[in-house]
Amino acid sequence: MTIWLPELAHRPGPKYRAIADALAEDVRSGRMRPGTRLPTHRDLAWRLGLTVGTVTRAYAEAERRGLIAGEVGRGTYVRGAAPADVGISYSPADASSQPALIDLSLNFPVIPGHEAELAAALGRLAGRGDLAALLPYHPHAGRPSDRAAGARWIGRSGLAVEPDDVAVTAGGQHGIVACMAAVAASGDTVLVESLTYPGVKAAAALLGLKLVGVAIDEEGVVPEALAAALRTTNAKALYCMPTLHNPTAIVMPESRRRAIAELASSHEIPVVEDDCYGFLTPDAPPPIGALGICEGLFLTSLSKSIAAGQRIGYVAARPARLERVTQAIRATSWMASPIAAAIASDWIGDGTAERMVRERRAEAAARQRMVEAALPGGRAPGGAVSYHAWLTLPDRWRADEFVAEARRRGVAVTPPTAFAVTRQAAPDAVRICYGAAAGRDELARGLEILAGLIEEHPAMAASIV
Ligand SMILES: Cc1ncc(COP(=O)(O)O)c(C=O)c1O
Repeated sequence: MTIWLPELAHRPGPKYRAIADALAEDVRSGRMRPGTRLPTHRDLAWRLGLTVGTVTRAYAEAERRGLIAGEVGRGTYVRGAAPADVGISYSPADASSQPALIDLSLNFPVIPGHEAELAAALGRLAGRGDLAALLPYHPHAGRPSDRAAGARWIGRSGLAVEPDDVAVTAGGQHGIVACMAAVAASGDTVLVESLTYPGVKAAAALLGLKLVGVAIDEEGVVPEALAAALRTTNAKALYCMPTLHNPTAIVMPESRRRAIAELASSHEIPVVEDDCYGFLTPDAPPPIGALGICEGLFLTSLSKSIAAGQRIGYVAARPARLERVTQAIRATSWMASPIAAAIASDWIGDGTAERMVRERRAEAAARQRMVEAALPGGRAPGGAVSYHAWLTLPDRWRADEFVAEARRRGVAVTPPTAFAVTRQAAPDAVRICYGAAAGRDELARGLEILAGLIEEHPAMAASIV
């Protein structure tokens, strides 16, 4: 029998998890080969000076991660396929507790980083000889050069704006807060799609706004539902995601955009349009704000197209409204970081950003094909390239049960309640994000688990006593 002794000294946190982590490492490195028998619970507990219960829990955790399997009378063995298969993915909820979790729950860019591009941009900025100019306070809406870069970036979507129409924000979430503060005050109602981006719910809670969900169909906001909501709520604005709605990936056709804009115009309310994913679909219809029908506030972010840690986004609005947006930027962050904005401007200016977008789109398309092949229900509506798919579950599955069981098997997906404005609005569907998986192999493993699970019956899948 192999006397396997895990090295625990440098591992913080609960001992059971440290043992499971050590085992995962040893399996990955090949130190523990498939078929290797592990010490008994009692033996390992004695050698490590721990309780048998701790070792039992550690082995259970290792089994949950697919590292080992136990057979009554034969002991516990390292599993055959485990070594290369065990993925480590980032789990923001508790990075250390789920080392083997395949996280398909968060909308990350499909390519995580561009170190060489960052180094090159920093070199270029340093080479200009005025690096210190980035260090003082600057205007709240951003430096003219960064607003110009923002106008150029927004122009890709089909909305032509001047640099003076643009404010630089510290990412899309900041843009949402600034726009919401610019269109409504505490106690006011803002209309949103009945499933909306969770950050909007957070912004509304912060600002004391009431969100009212408007029904959506396969083309997005339903005009009749919007008309009814406008009649009955005294809403101050509509926030929506016409291109690649999060979570359903719906792209509103132009006719629907026009209908929405007409209604907004007749009730004299602005439409806050979030285009964070628009870069993925260059052939999307024009933004609502570009139709010239109603007042529009357009917001976007570089988080999905370039880098989330950069925290740069842009808002475009007509002058009086932009002034309100700018006041909100001042109240919340004074200004977006000029250093981060300068890097963005450099990338937008020299074409690096455009190249990153092309690479991201290609990787997203490849991953999307994998999702569609593994989960036929996971097709993005209209076949648009997206970072996420909305998977409607078969009748037998309730979304919360599916999410819990998927997580138990090592895959995180997002439940509908995260997006629903009211409990009733949460259908039995889940969001699957392709970008958070570290690579296509990891995505494939996650999809395989989900595809297997969806075929099962919940009553057979759950082991509840
Ligand atoms: C629709 C939508 N808007 C805004 C954001 C926020 O983006 P950022 O990371 O730039 O704050 C996200 C992030 O997931 C999003 O999905």
